[in-house]
Amino acid sequence: MTDAELLAAADAIAARAYAPYSKFHVGCAVLCRDGRVVEGVNVENAAYPLGVCAERTAFSRAMAEGHRPGDFVLAAITASPCGGCRQWLAEMGVERVVFRNGGRVVTMTPSELLPESFDSSDMA
Ligand code: THU
Repeated sequence: MTDAELLAAADAIAARAYAPYSKFHVGCAVLCRDGRVVEGVNVENAAYPLGVCAERTAFSRAMAEGHRPGDFVLAAITASPCGGCRQWLAEMGVERVVFRNGGRVVTMTPSELLPESFDSSDMA
């Protein structure tokens, strides 16, 4: 699967976002090492801060399906990942991230997205 194909999957799943408040639909598609693709969308709540980003629903679903950090090759997102999701991308150990930002398609690693990040080694 190419980066463009995974981004197309993210674009398609974004239609299933539950975003009645922001009306901003986000899709995320994650390519796992075993070839499976796990998708997520943003899910908002009337209590605004309780909403969940598309990246987090995708990775939470992948974890529930048995995948673990390090099992993820590529994450495609229809928007630039927020700061908190950059921390999630780092925790999940995904190799690369491709996302739309304005009219551009950007590819970065989690450490480029979140340099000098906090991780488990900081608690050793
Ligand atoms: N959103 C995501 O799903 N992922 C991001 O990384 C950026 C923001 C969602 C959260 C909220 O439902 C909507 O976009 C507007 O902020």
